[in-house]
Amino acid sequence: MKKNTIQEIAVNNNTPFYLYDIGLLRETIETAISEAQKYGYELHYALKANFSEQILKIISSYGMGADCVSGNEIDWAVRTGFKPEKIVFAGVGKTDDEINLALNHNIFCLNCESLQEISVINQLAGLKNQKADIALRINPDIDAQTHRFITTGLNENKFGINCSDLDKVLNEISGFKNIRLKGLHFHIGSQILNLKPFKELCLKINQILNLAGELEFVNVGGGLGIDYLEPEQNRIPDFKNYFKVFNDNLQLNSGQKVHFELGRSIVGQCGSLISRVLYVKPGNCRNYLILDAGMTHLIRPALYQAHHKIENLSSGLAEGNKYDIVGPICESSDVFAQELSFPKTERGDIIQIKSAGAYGEVMSSQYNMKTLFPAVFVNQSVFAENKADI
Ligand code: LLP
Repeated sequence: MKKNTIQEIAVNNNTPFYLYDIGLLRETIETAISEAQKYGYELHYALKANFSEQILKIISSYGMGADCVSGNEIDWAVRTGFKPEKIVFAGVGKTDDEINLALNHNIFCLNCESLQEISVINQLAGLKNQKADIALRINPDIDAQTHRFITTGLNENKFGINCSDLDKVLNEISGFKNIRLKGLHFHIGSQILNLKPFKELCLKINQILNLAGELEFVNVGGGLGIDYLEPEQNRIPDFKNYFKVFNDNLQLNSGQKVHFELGRSIVGQCGSLISRVLYVKPGNCRNYLILDAGMTHLIRPALYQAHHKIENLSSGLAEGNKYDIVGPICESSDVFAQELSFPKTERGDIIQIKSAGAYGEVMSSQYNMKTLFPAVFVNQSVFAENKADI
C-alpha cells in the first residue's frame, strides 16, 4: 500500500472512532488456539474486554467458549454464537435474575465467590428442580505484579474465597442438594507480562487441588499481558510460553481439564483509537496537542496511568516538539501522554492511539456528551503495514 491506510480510512470518517484490524484478530485467535491445543486446554474469551458484535461473532466462529460477568453478557454471548455449554459466569455480585438466567441457559458453570452466593444459587436451582454446576473461585493470595487496580488475587481484594475458608465452604456445600461442584476457579489479575506469578499460581493450585478432592477442571482465569510499548514488534502475545508454564507446573489428576479466560491478549492489539488534532496550544510550561478523543473514549491512561503508544499518521518524521497529548474533556486527568517527543504536528493531523482493542471502547462513557463514532473494521492486517508506509 502506497499511502498510509489508516490515515486514508480516517480521512473518510468522522473522528474519534475505534478501528479494528480483523486480520490481526484472526491471527491472534489462531495462535492462541493452536498453542492451547498442544495441551488440550479449553479457552473462553472474556467478553468484558470487548463485546463488539463483529468481534464476538468472529471469536465464537472459532469454537471458543465465553467468560461472562453479567446476565446481559450471557445473553449477548449466546446471541453472537457462543454455545451455552461453553459459557462460564463469574462476578462477586450476581443478582437473582442473573443467576436464574444462567440456570435457564444451562451454561457450563457458575464461578462462585462466597458461601452466601452458593446458598442462593442452591435455593434458586432448587426452585427449578435443577442442579447448578459451580466452581469455587479461590483467592490464592498471589501478587500479580501489575497495577493495583487490576490485581485481583491478593487477600486484600474483594474477589474469591480465601484459602483458609476452603474447608469450611466444602463442608457446608456438601449438604446443598442443588449444587454440583465441578471445579476450582482462579484469576490473579490482568496485564501480567512476567510469567512468574502464573508459575506461583500453579504451585498454589497443586496444594489446593489436594484438599478439594476429585474435580473435573481447574479454571486459571486470564491475565496474560500485551506489549503496549512496542505493539508493532509484538503484535501477538506470547501464548506459547504462557501455556507452557501451566503445562510445566500444574499437577493434575488424570482427566482433569484446564480452562482459561483470556480477554486482553485476544483483542488488545487489534484495536486503535483514531482521532484528529483539534488545536496545537502552547502553554506556559508545556505544549499541548488537544485531540477530539478524550478519557470518555479511552479511560485507561486516566484511570490506571496506562501507557498507549501514540503516533501522528499525517506528519513526516521531522523532529517536532515535546507535547502533552490531551483530550477535550473538562478534567485535568484527561491526558493520554505527557511530554511526549512527537513529530511536527498541525491542526487536523490524524492520531493513532494503539493497543486499545481491550478495555477501550467498552469502557467509554457519556460524560460531557462527547460523540464516539461507530467503529470501523478492516479485513487486512493494516496495523502491521502502517509504520513502514509512512
Ligand atoms: N477472568 C476474570 C475473572 C477477570 O476478572 C478478568 C478480567 C478476566 C478473566 C480477563 O482478564 P484479561 O485476560 O483480560 O487480563 N479494565 C482493566 C482490566 C480489568 C480486568 C478485569 N478482569 C484495564 O483496562 O486494564
